[in-house]
Amino acid sequence: MSTLSCKHVLNMRDMTVEDIYLTLDVAKSFKEINERPIKKLPTLRGRTVVNFFLEPSTRTRTSFEIAAKRLSADGVNFAASASATAKGESLVDTAQTLDAMSCDLVVIRHKYAGSPHILTQNMRARIINGGDGKHQHPTQALLDLFTMRERFGKIEGLKVGIVGDIAHSRVAGSLVEGLTMLGAEVTLIAPPTLLPARPDYWGTSVSVSHKIDDVLPELDVLYMLRIQLERIEQAPFPSLREYARLFGVGTERMAKMKPDAIIMHPGPVNRGVELTSEAVDAANNLLLYQVNAGVAVRMALMYLLLGGKPEGISE
Ligand code: CP
Repeated sequence: MSTLSCKHVLNMRDMTVEDIYLTLDVAKSFKEINERPIKKLPTLRGRTVVNFFLEPSTRTRTSFEIAAKRLSADGVNFAASASATAKGESLVDTAQTLDAMSCDLVVIRHKYAGSPHILTQNMRARIINGGDGKHQHPTQALLDLFTMRERFGKIEGLKVGIVGDIAHSRVAGSLVEGLTMLGAEVTLIAPPTLLPARPDYWGTSVSVSHKIDDVLPELDVLYMLRIQLERIEQAPFPSLREYARLFGVGTERMAKMKPDAIIMHPGPVNRGVELTSEAVDAANNLLLYQVNAGVAVRMALMYLLLGGKPEGISE
């Protein structure tokens, strides 16, 4: 069986280009299975997967839970409020406690960047980063790459505009890396106050624009980010209304897009800020396709990391 070169998936750059394509190919098989009336496979029977989410999540937590169930793994969920973390237990002690229970895979979401790495140093289990602070969210990037590839048949050469709060976005942190690894051309579209200090860190295939209308007509993918109000410390723009006027997308800006261009968003959406309701519900907005793909991509990662037998799917 083909497998991944990495033991854990904490950052996009833990994966090679071959790892990414392998994950997308396996996810395609799982996506077909997810469309069958009976969606369950025995692949990970007897394996234990822990969802350790210390920050709110709807899409990531639920899709990992569904993915584990569809592969017949034993899934355990625990959240900050219901764990000893609320009593002050350290992350290292929690990791060692879970390790003592012989878990096979832990998915962690945490407000601090680097938390998944601490688990790798204190557990024998495989670790997947479900989002750490404003650092990385690799499974979101993988499901986004899957969606773009399904829509356009390739990633290489696509022109992708990522709009909004790039400075505070772990989604952008992983997606920019995934896109550049696979040969897409990325434009970061944001006011200077919502850009990272060194966008040139991502290399020459990433450019910057402060005016969405200048680049919109060229894009294949318009990837809108949520303003991360929970992470913003100072006022990077005068008001949400002003931000929506300069960077938000509604019917007027949608009319400037190429006929086959798509809108994407990782969710949750702030309706009326980055997207109007018309733009959220537009036929070329693949927001819910992304959610659907997320289950298949997470099944693929669990399968590849835990070395499940390929019963029921063709490799
Ligand atoms: N896209 C994403 O990470 O959504 P959740 O916060 O709902 O998991």
